[in-house]
Amino acid sequence: MLSYKHGYHAGNHADVMKHIIMLYLYNLEKKVNNSISYIDTHSGNGIYKYISKYMDKNKEYKEGIKKIQNYKGNNILIKNYLSTISKITGKNNFYPGSPIFISSVANVKDKLFFCELHKNEYELLKKNLNKYTNIKILNADGFNFIFNKVNKEKNYFVFIDPSYEIKDDFEKVEEILNNIDNLFSKSKIIIWYPVLNILENDSFIQNIRKKGISNIINVEVPIMNYGDNVGMQGSGLLLINFSNRSIMKNLKEAIHEIQNILKQEENSTRFKLRYL
Ligand SMILES: C[S@@+](CC[C@H](N)C(=O)[O-])C[C@H]1O[C@@H](n2cnc3c(N)ncnc32)[C@H](O)[C@@H]1O
Repeated sequence: MLSYKHGYHAGNHADVMKHIIMLYLYNLEKKVNNSISYIDTHSGNGIYKYISKYMDKNKEYKEGIKKIQNYKGNNILIKNYLSTISKITGKNNFYPGSPIFISSVANVKDKLFFCELHKNEYELLKKNLNKYTNIKILNADGFNFIFNKVNKEKNYFVFIDPSYEIKDDFEKVEEILNNIDNLFSKSKIIIWYPVLNILENDSFIQNIRKKGISNIINVEVPIMNYGDNVGMQGSGLLLINFSNRSIMKNLKEAIHEIQNILKQEENSTRFKLRYL
């Protein structure tokens, strides 16, 4: 039984960081690939209203999108994210989920697959995306879907954003990392992860390092000084098979600003950007 609802967390610091980078990388891919096959394994329902029993409950968006939405700096990744949101939301009464972000920047030649296992969220997603035509929405397990669909002959762009409400999610991510050469060698993959426990996070990253995957970038954005705090202390992304030469420089500039805006403690642990 799935109890997680992304509505409680939508627009928080983790969403802001992941959506800025996901959009940047999708737009970068668009420059070299006119027909992207995209898979969002964990889609959510696509639209999160600020005035709702979900977003209103913990108001996590106040530590995320609300802190960055009036950004006046020059970082192009942040500016592009904010202008994409205003194009999507118009009256600005909701925060868009990953399926709407990508549907709004994709063109008709792209094929977009959205998996959502939770029946109610799936039904809402179908309703919220009904104006887009180049998409397929599945009430399916996103991990199973990519293992059946992706093969090493074809280039897919895969976004993997589990809730990690069950430990299984870490094991499934591990299974993907173990099959990069077999199945995903031509595909570009973005995997999001939360930083909840520092020791467990260190060993998660160490394990990945040991796999010797040839092209894997790790971004991690702490929002506090890493320690024994309860809850999410930051979050990160694993970026696999992205090789554009400007990526590291562009990510560094963006992450530096994102952390400065979103951090909740002055002495927050420094962000990480490295090849594993
Ligand atoms: C973190 S939320 C996704 C947020 C979304 N990617 C975004 O950025 O707006 C995770 C979603 O995955 C769904 N889910 C959980 N396990 C799943 C699975 N194995 N396959 C597909 N969806 C799953 C949950 O119901 C939840 O809606």
